[in-house]
Parts: sequence; C-alpha cells; structure tokens
Amino acid sequence: MKRADAILSDSGIFTRSEAKKAIYEGRVFADGKKIVSPSEKINENAVFTVDGKEINTEKYVYLMMNKPQGYICENGSENSVLSLVPKEYYRKGLFTVGRLDKDTEGLLLITNDGDFAHAVASPKRNIRKLYFAELEREVTAEDIAAFANGFETKNGEKFLPALLEKGEGKTATVTVSEGKYHEVKRLFLLTGNRVLYLKRLKEGGLWLDTSLSPGETRAITDEEKELVFAE
Ligand code: URA
Repeated sequence: MKRADAILSDSGIFTRSEAKKAIYEGRVFADGKKIVSPSEKINENAVFTVDGKEINTEKYVYLMMNKPQGYICENGSENSVLSLVPKEYYRKGLFTVGRLDKDTEGLLLITNDGDFAHAVASPKRNIRKLYFAELEREVTAEDIAAFANGFETKNGEKFLPALLEKGEGKTATVTVSEGKYHEVKRLFLLTGNRVLYLKRLKEGGLWLDTSLSPGETRAITDEEKELVFAE
C-alpha cells in the first residue's frame, strides 16, 4: 500500500503537485473507486484511471516501435524517435535500446530500464538481429560465403560471421549478432555492394509487429520481452 499521489508521481506521469491537484479535482480512480485524498493508501497493483483513461503506473516501460525513416535514436532533437512516443510516456525517462540509422526502418525497442537495454546490447548475449535490405546489386554465392567467414578490414577491424540470404532480385536478409555502428551497411560495402534501404525485422526471437505502421509504438508483453533473449 502506498499514498495515491506517490503512486501517480512515481509513475512519471504527474509531478507530486499535479497528482494532488488531479485527485482534488476528482479525476483519479483506483479500481473504479474515486480517490478523495492524496494521502489515501492504495494497493500499488490497482488499476488507475485519470479522466476515464487507464494509466500505466509501472516504473519500467518496454515499448516496440516501427521506426520510420527520418528519425534519429537520440533524445532531445526534434526529429528524435522519442518525440513519436505517446504523450503518456513523456516523463518516463525513455531511451532507445541500441540505435538504428536515420534512414533505417523497423523494430526498435524503447525503455527506461537500463539493465534491460544493457543486457540486449551486451556482446556476451550475442542477440541476433535480422534485417531486410534492398541493395545496389544482387547478392552472389561469393558474398554469402564472405559474410559467413566474417571480415577483417585493412585497419584490423574484425566483423563476426553473419548469415546472408539472397532474396528476390536485389534484396537480401542478413542476420548479425554484433551491433557495430552501421554494421549491415559496412558489411555490404566490404563486398562492393551498397544498401539502398534497410529495415530491422527481428531482435532475438522477437519479430516486428507488422500491424504497427511506421512511427507507431505499443507496449510489449512480458513474454515478448523474454523472447528478445530466447534465440
Ligand atoms: N546496420 C546498419 O548499417 N544500420 C542500421 O541502422 C542498423 C544496422
């Protein structure tokens, strides 16, 4: 049990004084019962509504976005992907789990749980990421073999083996597990090819929800969160 105003302010949705005001205005309900005083002790698992809309009072948030092109994975910029997240999450202190380039689309996880973000990015976990790419030229059997061997650049930088699969025409899918900066684009450049369009489809065992249109976000379930570590 916890004070009603504390639950609302800890959730990041309101400041303490905004929470008190909303309660005095009679706009806040817990499990269908109007809260009359900010000091009322409420079960933290109660379902809260403000103005009839259910709010998320959980400390940690885990979202999946279908990232659109033209947005960057950094906070504080007007074209940050975080500006596309629904307003109810604005005060949650969100950040992206890893990064996609400005012109890359697709599956992007967003959270305020540093441990989760760290675990997903950790090289020890080797979480595989699947991308769909449109390319300047068709993939050859030599390209597939080169990706499977991994690369070492002239300045000694190493790329771990990646699974390249030819798609229709000048398309391909590629699975990488490192998460280096511009990794997929650089891998194709190493075979004299160029990525024209890139979309992330899957992280670990979690697929992009294709019912999300570009720029749309939804919370992921606990099972989906586990799936990220499942493959
Ligand atoms: N690899 C890239 O080159 N770009 C991305 O956005 C993701 C992986």
